[in-house]
Amino acid sequence: GSKSKVTVVGSGNWGSVAAKLIASNTLKLNSFHDEVRMWVFEETLQTGEKLTDVINKTNENVKYLPGIKLGKNVIADPDLDNAVKDANMLVFVTPHQFMEGICKRLVGKVRGDVEAISLIKGMEVKMEGPCMISNLISEQLGINCSVLMGANIANEIAVEKFSEATVGYRDNREIAEQWVKLFSTPYFMVTPVQDVEGVELCGTLKNVVAIAAGFVDGLDMGNNTKAAIMRIGLREMRAFSKLLFSSVRDSTFFESCGVADVITTCLGGRNRKVAEAFARNGGKRSFDDLEAEMLQGQKLQGVSTAREVYEVLSHRGWLELFPLFATVHEICVGRLPPSAIVEYSEKKPRLS
Ligand code: NAD
Ligand code: 13P
Repeated sequence: GSKSKVTVVGSGNWGSVAAKLIASNTLKLNSFHDEVRMWVFEETLQTGEKLTDVINKTNENVKYLPGIKLGKNVIADPDLDNAVKDANMLVFVTPHQFMEGICKRLVGKVRGDVEAISLIKGMEVKMEGPCMISNLISEQLGINCSVLMGANIANEIAVEKFSEATVGYRDNREIAEQWVKLFSTPYFMVTPVQDVEGVELCGTLKNVVAIAAGFVDGLDMGNNTKAAIMRIGLREMRAFSKLLFSSVRDSTFFESCGVADVITTCLGGRNRKVAEAFARNGGKRSFDDLEAEMLQGQKLQGVSTAREVYEVLSHRGWLELFPLFATVHEICVGRLPPSAIVEYSEKKPRLS
């Protein structure tokens, strides 16, 4: 058959690493076109140059992944329609808050036979209830969408340190195998699991747990407290996921997307880092401020996800069942002090 053409929609920190991983494989594997298109949300750098031009000239995303060569077959493209028009494999990897707008722009612009995968950790909350990003993509564009999540701090994968990831797929195992082939390298081990919702909810909800872990660090509470927060957080992740989708499997929480992503993000992620600074400042500086100062244009997902989860919890009358998730949001918006995260953890667990 004909070769698959891959386009990556997004070019932030993880987006750039994903493009690099994929591009190393399309060069080696006959079933893919060498070229990987990467859609870039265009911006002008302080030097006055366009980011896209600099990426194509230097083969580096100097703003979001400095110092790493992406591979000569990665082509940055500022034109979204042009970037997707020939692709039959679309990899979505932008901060989750931008996906609704991007999907609207893509309606009618993608090929009919296209397969998609989302690397995006987050969700949208609609009047009808929560909508996972992979679902937003499938519904708006009328295409199938798998997910890839895992313990994947982008900067570590960029320098080819070993890690694992989980592909969540709906029912077509062959398509899952195609994604596994596209992403797997000796330093990136990908396992397919037939549980899209479970995998995606793991990736999404762990960002809320990481905010809680950051508060604990900012309060100098130590390792035992942080481990307790991770355990309670994992338990809330599982309970919330199963209440939303009864199909979610327990075993998914033992994959890379579950416990491993909770651990790495609570140890070394951006959500943890900014939440630590928030607690050290006694909650007096906003997350927006700290994010802009500390992350150089990269985006936090945990604060908005905590708000989105809170909306679901209050709407469904579940607040009492999820004290950790609810407390994270209350702290983020300044209704509770950062120390409330610890007061919570001293309470008796309300979930079995
Ligand atoms: P990022 O945090 O580096 O965000 C910056 C990106 O957002 C840039 O490409 C920028 O151009 C883009 N952007 C800014 N404003 C925009 C707008 N108005 N419209 C569209 N794009 C805009 O992004 P990332 O690290 O690639 O994260 C993408 C997703 O991957 C997130 O859901 C994140 O949780 C997930 N993820 C990240 C990591 C990581 O270590 N960075 C690891 C695993 C998963
Ligand atoms: P942060 O966004 O907190 O850095 O987490 C990255 C991640 O998802 C690691 O798997």
